[in-house]
Amino acid sequence: MWILALSLFQSFANVFSEEAHSSLYFVNASLQEVVFASTSGTLVPCPAAGIPPVTLRWYLATGEEIYDVPGIRHVHPNGTLQIFPFPPSSFSTLIHDNTYYCTAETPSGKIRSQDVHIKAVLREPYTVRVEDQKTMRGNVAVFKCIIPSSVEAYITVVSWEKDTVSLVSGSRFLITSTGALYIKDVQNEDGLYNYRCITRHRYTGETRQSNSARLFVSDPANSAPSILDGFDHRKAMAGQRVELPCKALGHPEPDYRWLKDNMPLELSGRFQKTVTGLLIENTRPSDSGSYVCEVSNRYGTAKVIGRLYVKQPLKATISPRKVKSSVGSQVSLSCSVTGTEDQELSWYRNGEILNPGKNVRITGINHENLIMDHMVKSDGGAYQCFVRKDKLSAQDYVQVVLEDGTPKIISAFSEKVVSPAEPVSLMCSVKGTPLPTITWTLDDDPILKGGGHRISQMITSEGNVVSYLNISSSQVRDGGVYRCTANNSAGVVLYQARINVRGPASIRPMKNITAIAGRDTYIHCRVIGYPYYSIKWYKNSNLLPFNHRQVAFENNGTLKLSDVQKEVDEGEYTCNVLVQPQLSTSQSVHVTVKVPPFIQPFEFPRFSIGQRVFIPCVVVSGDLPITITWQKDGRPIPASLGVTIDNIDFTSSLRISNLSLMHNGNYTCIARNEAAAVEHQSQLIVRVPPKFVVQPRDQDGIYGKAVILNCSAEGYPVPTIVWKFSKGAGVPQFQPIALNGRIQVLSNGSLLIKHVVEEDSGYYLCKVSNDVGADVSKSMYLTVKIPAMITSYPNTTLATQGQKKEMSCTAHGEKPIIVRWEKEDRVINPEMARYLVSTKEAGEEVISTLQILPTVREDSGFFSCHAINSYGEDRGIIQLTVQEPPDPPEIEIKDVKARTITLRWTMGFDGNSPITGYDIECKNKSASACPPRTGLARASPATSSPSRPTRQLLTVHPRKFTWSPYRLGASGSPGRLPRNTCKTVLSVATR
Ligand SMILES: *[C@@H]1O[C@H](CO)[C@@H](O)[C@H](O)[C@H]1NC(C)=O
Ligand SMILES: *[C@@H]1O[C@H](CO)[C@@H](O)[C@H](O)[C@H]1NC(C)=O
Repeated sequence: MWILALSLFQSFANVFSEEAHSSLYFVNASLQEVVFASTSGTLVPCPAAGIPPVTLRWYLATGEEIYDVPGIRHVHPNGTLQIFPFPPSSFSTLIHDNTYYCTAETPSGKIRSQDVHIKAVLREPYTVRVEDQKTMRGNVAVFKCIIPSSVEAYITVVSWEKDTVSLVSGSRFLITSTGALYIKDVQNEDGLYNYRCITRHRYTGETRQSNSARLFVSDPANSAPSILDGFDHRKAMAGQRVELPCKALGHPEPDYRWLKDNMPLELSGRFQKTVTGLLIENTRPSDSGSYVCEVSNRYGTAKVIGRLYVKQPLKATISPRKVKSSVGSQVSLSCSVTGTEDQELSWYRNGEILNPGKNVRITGINHENLIMDHMVKSDGGAYQCFVRKDKLSAQDYVQVVLEDGTPKIISAFSEKVVSPAEPVSLMCSVKGTPLPTITWTLDDDPILKGGGHRISQMITSEGNVVSYLNISSSQVRDGGVYRCTANNSAGVVLYQARINVRGPASIRPMKNITAIAGRDTYIHCRVIGYPYYSIKWYKNSNLLPFNHRQVAFENNGTLKLSDVQKEVDEGEYTCNVLVQPQLSTSQSVHVTVKVPPFIQPFEFPRFSIGQRVFIPCVVVSGDLPITITWQKDGRPIPASLGVTIDNIDFTSSLRISNLSLMHNGNYTCIARNEAAAVEHQSQLIVRVPPKFVVQPRDQDGIYGKAVILNCSAEGYPVPTIVWKFSKGAGVPQFQPIALNGRIQVLSNGSLLIKHVVEEDSGYYLCKVSNDVGADVSKSMYLTVKIPAMITSYPNTTLATQGQKKEMSCTAHGEKPIIVRWEKEDRVINPEMARYLVSTKEAGEEVISTLQILPTVREDSGFFSCHAINSYGEDRGIIQLTVQEPPDPPEIEIKDVKARTITLRWTMGFDGNSPITGYDIECKNKSASACPPRTGLARASPATSSPSRPTRQLLTVHPRKFTWSPYRLGASGSPGRLPRNTCKTVLSVATR
């Protein structure tokens, strides 16, 4: 008995479209770190992208998808991550100093960006300093801008000033790449000026001016070298230029000699000696090593010893670059890494990490090889290799396209007629991956090797399998329907055609057939010999077809019976072949029809706990014998449930005497006979009305922290919990809560708010329902406790020396709030003279005011106000500048001629505001004191204006005055400061 299911040329739908290839890409694969000022916030576009439709999502490095926090963090629909400006009290490491990544997903796959560290920089009080320097005339001087290490990474030296004139690198002045100021061939005159550096904070944009430093110039004197500028380590990326500073003071001018790893360094090509030391262009990793700069003259030697590290950028490359393979095949990828030796390498498929498993192997010392066997459709997509080293990461990505490997017939033999003894060659050429196996049948009987048939096989250069079936000398019995079947793990394909061998026609004996009622069945008349006139089918002497369900294919002798019915179709079928006009031959086949069982559908009614239950399963039709079994949730019913099963003939029933919750489940009645197994399923639900297990209660939440509002309930079916919200303390008007990443309902029904914000305060209602009995609900109030925040304060402020100054900070948050003031890490307390702190509450706010009376020069600097409550603290940093009259300049008479006098003077302390001009006054020798404005000569502002600042050399023409003592004063601006008093008095002998 056999059942023939004929499905020719079947092939699976080709689900992988090639045009989806490479629609994913990276827009900014080198972005590793985003540093921004807390006061400005930042926008970070997703480094990964794709051709629309693309979905961009941000995650934390831990894999948690990030959620919007109103006013703090937001992901725009275009995939840009925004972190809003925030006060220090809102700083959250999770949000403001964390590693993120972004993914891009299209229908062709999903890629994951490199890790991006997002870091907020808070405003810090800091000052930059310059120290006085000593040097010898004709030698070199080096000023360095000293930056506190806490902010060093963010600060750059933007310029150097000589008095108030900005210096540009030129013949004698040089600003190095590290921000130092070199003065070459120092002149006595260089000692007359004040030098200072100007810095800028890369992220907050704040600029700072250092103090003024002086240069003391001495006459050259024989001396051993002493180091002015050096280094102990330097880092550079390959390809960059790097300067290794080495500069010394000494007389005579010392010689410089460089050694690398204790070998003299050849200074040519990429290595050049410069004024500041050694310059290496286009660095290579091999330039790394220890460098020694030996400085010597005839009085001695000094050394600078330092290390240089040249790093290659981290880079990962996957090969092969393009992978096109087939379902079922093996795919191997390998990842090569440059820029590090001890890397941590991981593989990702469509954004998910790949771990070794049944079909996935990861080999190599650094896990650099990925081998995957038996690829299935879902294994196609984007593959990425990530390499991580310290805080850096790099990745590469390839798209693996999996084609459908289902066998396909490329070409095959066709129907033909041959004469006896003629050789016959049948061919089937098939494509598929993995390579398909080809088998042959003749009239449904397998053709084995040997006998008169020879089967051979070859693989073409295109990778097609070609199978030949050769018959060297055909005989009548070799005729019939030949079929080649190509088979691989991805599927199967069949091809068949008749080969007619000339000779007397006859029919091979046929095997009886069992058909299943309700399905289709095929019967083949196994004719051999050729020619013949016709093939006809009869049942009980009636020529087929005699009803609409029968189709007889006259040319090949196939009979199809659709929707088989037992009463009509069972019986003997005869195939009759007309060999000659008067000669026919026939063979019969018996078709038995088996009827599968049919279960009368049943449905469980609504049950309540404790009830008695009887459920019958009745098989209303189908061939006997029938066996009936039961399952609960896909498994045999456990004896412990106390369920009794009674089987009688074609029925089976369940009895439960005391229904409890454990009886809940899906019950299946399975009826089986010779033809088939059928089943019917129904769900038994023991209903229990909802009841609270944990009721919500009023709760506090802290701004920026997580809070869980507890609520859980039981009942059957398991109740659903819905939360509603009414903002604020007014009469509750409950609205559904928009659940998002920030607000989630946990599996136990509690509500999780991951990052509480002020707007979350209000009434919450937990509503429980399961369609059994009445719903239950309960409300609660969430109070949001706000940590102390400074909401307003001046960043910078000015005061006039000797007068009163008030500075205020406004704080907000949960009361009580304490506000404390500090001056550069020293707490200001009531015992301190001149300082007075007063605090008042105004509505929701607390305003604290610091009064200074009177202000003095030393008050200039950083004050901070700190607001503290039980939930957190915040601070505001205020830079106070106390302005005062400038210090008098130091004056010196350079030259006195008959009609001219040359004066030279040096600027003193500017009183914290730019010098606008110098006034030169003189008085008559006989006058006892500095006169008022009468009879004075002035250096007009034109010769000493802020835009063309102070000229220290001035020639005056004493025409009608009798020149005697001089006085020089500087006037500051703004602030209407008093004019300088007469302090510098010089006597000049007039000729
Ligand atoms: C994304 O949208 C935001 C807000 O509309 C906008 O500020 C930003 O520039 C956009 N970024 C890109 C890359 O288009
Ligand atoms: C086919 O079935 C008929 C009727 O049941 C039986 O008489 C005959 O022997 C069977 N033939 C074969 C080959 O099994």
